[in-house]
Amino acid sequence: MTKTPTSKPRANPSGRSRGKTVYVKSARGRKSSSTRWLQRQLNDPYVAEAKRLGYRSRAAFKLIWLDDKYHLLKNAKRIVDLGSAPGGWTQIIVERAPKGAEIVAIDILEMDEVEGANFMQMDFMADDAEKKLFSMLSGKVDLVVSDMANSATGHKQTDHLKTMAMCETAFDFAKKTLAPGGAFVAKVLRGGTEQDLLADMKKHFKKVHHAKPDSSRARSTELYIVGLGFIPQKGDEIEQHK
Ligand SMILES: C[S@@+](CC[C@H](N)C(=O)[O-])C[C@H]1O[C@@H](n2cnc3c(N)ncnc32)[C@H](O)[C@@H]1O
Repeated sequence: MTKTPTSKPRANPSGRSRGKTVYVKSARGRKSSSTRWLQRQLNDPYVAEAKRLGYRSRAAFKLIWLDDKYHLLKNAKRIVDLGSAPGGWTQIIVERAPKGAEIVAIDILEMDEVEGANFMQMDFMADDAEKKLFSMLSGKVDLVVSDMANSATGHKQTDHLKTMAMCETAFDFAKKTLAPGGAFVAKVLRGGTEQDLLADMKKHFKKVHHAKPDSSRARSTELYIVGLGFIPQKGDEIEQHK
C-alpha cells in the first residue's frame, strides 16, 4: 500500500535549483538529449521537492497549482484521472478530495496502487475504453482531469496534434459523464488547433480558462485548459446515466 503524503509543497517558485548546479557528462552510448534530460532532472527543484514529499512525479505540483487556483477538488465526490501514471495527480486527488470520494485513474502503462483510488490499465484511445470506464463509475462525475501525453516525437506539430486528439477524446468523454456544474481539465500543447477546442468548450462550461502552472517548464508549449460549471447540452447524455 502506498502512503499518501499530506504536507504542502515548498517548491521554489522561481524554478531554479537551490543548491549548486549538477553537471552531467555525456556517457558513451547515452544520447545528448538523454544527458540534457538527466541534468535537468538533477537540477529541478520540483523533482527534489516531489521526492522529499513522497509524490511520484513533479507533475503533482501542477495539479496542486490548478486546484489552488480553481478549487477543483474540494467538493468533488466522483473524479476521473486520465493518463495517471506514475500517480502524482492521483495522490493529490486522494489527498484533497472529500473523504470517501470515488476516484478512478487510468493509464496505458502500469501504475502502482494509490490507496483510495481505483486504477485500470487501458488505452483511453481504444474503441472500448469509454464503455469500460463507464462501467467503473457509479454515476455522473464532478471532475475529469487529463494529463495524457504521448512520448514526444520532437516534431512540434505532430506532438501538438497527437495531444489534441487525446484532449478532444477526453472532452467528449467529459461531456457524457460530467454532472451539471462539473469541471474538466486537460493538458494541451500549443500549436493552433487548441483554439477550436476552447471555442467548443465555451458552449459547455460557464467559464473556460487556459493556465500555465508555475511548475510547467517555461520552454514547454504545454498548458492546461480548464472548464468550470458544466452545462449539459442535448446529445451529451449516455444511456446508463440518464
Ligand atoms: C505526463 S504523464 C502523466 C503524469 C501523471 N499525471 C502524474 O502526475 O504522475 C502522461 C501519461 O499519459 C499516459 N498516456 C498516454 N497515452 C495514453 C492513452 N492512450 N491512454 C491512457 N494513458 C495514456 C502515459 O502513459 C503517461 O503515463
